Amino acid sequence: MRRVYVGTGWKMNKTVAETLSYLAELGDLSPYTKELTIFVVPPFTSLWAANASLKGSPVLVGAQNMHWAKAGAYTGEISAQMLVECGCQLVEIGHSERRRYCGETDETVNLKLQTAAQSGLRPILCIGETEEQKAAGRSETVLASQLTRALHGICSEKISETIIAYEPIWAIGTGIPAEPAYVNRIHGWLRAYLADALGADVAERTSIIYGGSVDVESTPALIAQPEVDGVFVGTCAWQAANFRKIIEIVYHEVSKGEG
Ligand code: PGA
Repeated sequence: MRRVYVGTGWKMNKTVAETLSYLAELGDLSPYTKELTIFVVPPFTSLWAANASLKGSPVLVGAQNMHWAKAGAYTGEISAQMLVECGCQLVEIGHSERRRYCGETDETVNLKLQTAAQSGLRPILCIGETEEQKAAGRSETVLASQLTRALHGICSEKISETIIAYEPIWAIGTGIPAEPAYVNRIHGWLRAYLADALGADVAERTSIIYGGSVDVESTPALIAQPEVDGVFVGTCAWQAANFRKIIEIVYHEVSKGEG
C-alpha cells in the first residue's frame, strides 16, 4: 500500500505570528497520522517557529525551495543543511511559480533533487503542463520530459521516496481543479512511465499526489481515484479549519478502503 499524503503549501503567505496561530487552530492531528502523512510548507521565515510549535507532533514541515550547493556566494539562497537544522524533513522542488518567476529549470530541479537525496530531505517534486500544452495534446510529453530530466541520476530508492506532485499549471490558483477522472488518468500514465523507466516495483511504491485548486468540495472525488495518493492544497487550506476538513475527508476515504 502506498502512503497517502495531505499537505498545504503557503507560497508567500503567513508571518511567524500567523503561522503560530494557524498551527494552534489546526490542533492535534495525531488521530489521523497513522493512516496519513500530513505536512505544511510555510515560507522560510516561519520554518523554525513551525517546527518548534509542532515538536512531538507527527505533522511534517517542508520548505518551498532550497539551493543545490552546500554553501557559498549565493546571496538570498538557503541550503539543505539550513533546512535540516530548522527541523525540516521535506522540501518542495520545481513548483511552477518558481519555474515561471524565479528561473527554475529541469536542470536546477535535478541538481536540487540530488542535493536533497544526499542531505536526508524528502523532495516534493512538482510537475505540470500549461493550458496551451494540454490543448495541443502534449500533456504527457511535457510531463515525461520534466520527470525524466528531474530524476536523471537519482537512484531508484530515492525516487520511490520522492513525493511526486502533479500540479497542472492551468488549474493552480484558478479555483477550478482538474477533473478527477483526468487526474486519475494522468497519474496512471505517470506511474506506467515510471514502471517502464525504473521497474514496476519503484512505480508502485512512489506516491503521486495532486495539487491545483483543491478545496473541501473537490477533495472527496479526487481522493476516491485509485491513482491519487493524496492532495497538495494551496489557497483553500490557508484557513486552518479548511485544511482540517480536507484532512478529515481524506482520512475517512482511506479508512473506508481499509475497512
Ligand atoms: P492552489 O495552489 O490550491 O491555490 O491552486 C496549489 C499549489 O500551487 O500547489
